This record gives sequence, structure tokens and C-alpha cells, in this order.
Amino acid sequence: MVIFGAAGDLTKRLVVPALYNLALAKLLPEEFAIIGFDRVEISDEQWRNSLAQMTEEFVKAGGDSAALNQDAWKWLAGKMSYMKGDLTDSSAYQQLKTKLDDLDKSNSSGGNYLFYLAVSDRFFGSTIDQLGKACLSCQTEGHWRRVVIEKPFGHDLQSAEDLDQQILRTLQEQQIFRIDHFLGKETVQNIMTFRFANGLFEPLWNRDRIDHVQITVSESVGVEKRGKFYEGTGALRDMIPNHVFQLVAMTAMEAPNSFAADAIRSEKAKVIEAVHVCDSKNNCGAVRAQYKAGEVGGQPVPAYRSEPDVSPDSPIETYVALKLMIDNWRWSGVPFYVRTGKRMARRKTHIAIKFKGVPGTLLREMNLPASAPNWLLLRIQPDEGIALEFGAKIPGPSVRIGDVRMDFKYEDYFGAAPNTGYETLLYDVMVGDATLFQRADNIEAGWSVVQPLLNNWSKSADDLAFYDSGSQGPAEADQLLACDGRAWRPIN
Ligand code: BG6
Repeated sequence: MVIFGAAGDLTKRLVVPALYNLALAKLLPEEFAIIGFDRVEISDEQWRNSLAQMTEEFVKAGGDSAALNQDAWKWLAGKMSYMKGDLTDSSAYQQLKTKLDDLDKSNSSGGNYLFYLAVSDRFFGSTIDQLGKACLSCQTEGHWRRVVIEKPFGHDLQSAEDLDQQILRTLQEQQIFRIDHFLGKETVQNIMTFRFANGLFEPLWNRDRIDHVQITVSESVGVEKRGKFYEGTGALRDMIPNHVFQLVAMTAMEAPNSFAADAIRSEKAKVIEAVHVCDSKNNCGAVRAQYKAGEVGGQPVPAYRSEPDVSPDSPIETYVALKLMIDNWRWSGVPFYVRTGKRMARRKTHIAIKFKGVPGTLLREMNLPASAPNWLLLRIQPDEGIALEFGAKIPGPSVRIGDVRMDFKYEDYFGAAPNTGYETLLYDVMVGDATLFQRADNIEAGWSVVQPLLNNWSKSADDLAFYDSGSQGPAEADQLLACDGRAWRPIN
């Protein structure tokens, strides 16, 4: 495994802790080797030590008071070496090739290479070109070459198409593993299990029984030190065509013919191709907003415009709410309201499905509310679990209906283990299972949906709304649902 960007944040925070967990679970092959590649001048030892420190912090943050498992860490660290190199220098790739050839000689079965591009997206295309030129990406009989990249995949439809074209000049589609880290989350993967391994819900999963769907990805953090990145990105690009659309696709897709990677990815592409933002021409189905100063978790926090590296009159949105419609047989007429924002009241990712009510007559005769709300809640994070809310008779002589809930919590059944979400993804790359990775058409379908909005929003920011940090989001987003006689579930 070659990690480009070996001294960077992604490597330290996620990739190496995930490798450590895989080592702990004995899921890495004995003849495994990691070469870290980066521009900084550090020794093998310094690289390993900095990683040991971060991995230990990760283990502790997961609530495990025990320090790093020394056996697992030593095993992994013994496989690590560092190489200084510049991504734009072709001679560095020749040196890398020599290093890999040497490793192959000492390894009876070796010769499979996994290149992990933990680097800025602007280097994706050129690094892959360089891998091709150095013949590091050429697969020979029985030896694979795979490349992992992680969002952003382009910053609009055109740039995503350009990137794909550039990559596909060197690699075959099966060699590329595009990570959307939401797919590494067990609870996201479980949406498909929940839908397709249980007979109970699927017959209800359509326009006949579902009134609408709400998808919320709220964060309590602000942009922190990522002002520069965020000023060129905004919430729409950062979250919607990728993470949020993964949740939409998992919720709305048809059952695949099999659990094979391409069967699943084709169904996902198909459903996203049918999505459109309601009345996006007039911006009516979309709200964008930016956080003002406020309080989160009892602490005062600054406005977005006062964050480091952010312009004092920035028009960039930190919040988006959309009303999506899906033009297909199953979902015709069922709105999917999605929202994502930073510096909201709470960190919460959930999918809430509201079922249609009962015919009103009977309850009306008894002077009762039209019907008890039936909600199915898929809690992706935190408090991972699934709940079903329905109405029950409140005990007593008169008929009164109370809202009650049946609740499944992952922790109760499966315990909680510190997990980065990258363990499964890395393991799957090694075994060649692309199910949890994005195919080019999935990415382009996502960009196509948001492209009309990107076009409109780039013309003027007159419709930018504002919300207090620590709040539920802007009033304009409440209005989006109020127009349809609906309301967001509170983020609490
Ligand atoms: C990243 C975005 O892809 O996902 C971040 O760039 C966001 O802005 C993050 O905070 C959210 O991921 P998670 O796993 O913390 O919900």
C-alpha cells in the first residue's frame, strides 16, 4: 500500500487508525507493506512515531482506556517505511517503482499495489497520469493495481466529467475506488439491510403509504480551520451531491438484482438520475443560509464571516435545505426534504419517514386529532438506531391518543467499538469489492441534479438567508415545508 500524502491529516486521523484496527482484527496479510510518500523530510522512525501518537489518541477517544495494543501496533509499524518525494516529479515515481520492485523480490506472492491518494483533489488527475507513465498502474496477470481517491470529485458537473476522463485514460473503471466516507458508516450500510432483508417495510415503501421523507445532516461544528477550502466550496458542494445523495439513494433506490457492486451502483445511479430540485429554476425548492454568531453547547461561537480565512462579506452558504422530487413510479408526488448545515443546535444525521395517516372519519366523530403521526426514524449518527413512532391509547376512561416509540439501539445489541468507518472501505479495496464506492456515473448524476442551482447561485447571493449558530436553521427553511403544510422534525 502506498499512501500519497503520508504526513497529512487524512492519513493520521483516519487511514492509519483504520489500518491499525484491521491489524488488530488480523485482517491484513502477513506480507503487507506500507510506503508513506510525502514532501516533508522525515525519517521512517519519525513518521511511525507521529502515527503511533495519533492512533493512540484515536483509541482513547473511542472510550477505550487501554492504550494502543502494542502487539498490533508493532506488527503494523514494522511494515511501514517512508519515502520523501514530490507528486509532480516523475523521477520520484521511478524511485517508488524501484522500492516496490525490491519489496516484490522479498515477497513470494506479492505484486498487488494499492495507491491511496490522501492528497488535495487538484493532484488526483496528475498523480494518476504519473502512475501510468511510470507503469505503476499496469496490471499483469494475477497482480492488481488499485487507486483510492476521496471526495471532492470535481466541483461541478463539467469538472467531474473532466476528472473522470483524465483518470480513465490511465485506469480501468474497476481499478478506481472513489470513497464517500458516509458509505463507510455501518448505519448507512444498514439502510439496505433494513429495507431488503426484512419483508415488513418494503410493501409500505412507496407513494401509496409514504407522505414525505426528511433527511437531516446537521453538524454543531463550524468551518474551523477550513475557511479557505470552504470559501471555494460551500455547503451545497461539500455535502449534497455526495453524502446527502448517498442517503437519498439508499432510501429511494429499487431493490438491486443482486448484491453485486455494479447491480447496486446501477440502481443508485438510476434513482439519482430521476431526482430534481423542486422548481430549481426559480430557486423555490432551495434555501441557502449562513451562520451568524451564537452559542453552541453553552459556548459562544463566531459568525462564519469572522472565521479565519473567510471574507467579511462572504456569500458562501453554510446551510442548505432542498425540496427534492423523484420522477419515477415509486416516488411520484412524495417530497424528499433534505437539509444540512454547520453550527446547528446539535450533530445529528437521520432519515425520517412520515407515513400517511388513516382516513379521518372515525377519529373526527370522536373529536380526536386527524390521526397519530407514524414516523420511521433511521438514526445514522449519533445514538445509532432505528425507531418507529406511532399512536397508542393513553390509559383511562376516555379515548386519548399518545405518541409512543419502539426503539432499537445498536449499542444495546452490538456494543460500541472505536471505528473510523474506513476499516470496511480499506478492506473492501483489498479484496476488490467496489460495492461501497462511487462509480463515475453515480458522481455525475449527483452533480447534474445540483448544477442548475450552482448556476443560479453563482449569479447573485440576494437570497442568502442567515441563522443563529446553535439554532435549528433559518426561518426560510421552515417556510419551505410550511408551504406544503409540513414541518421539520426538531433537531434535538
Ligand atoms: C466531509 C465534509 O466530507 O464530511 C465536512 O467535507 C463534514 O465538511 C464531514 O464535516 C461530515 O462527516 P461526518 O462523518 O463527521 O458526519
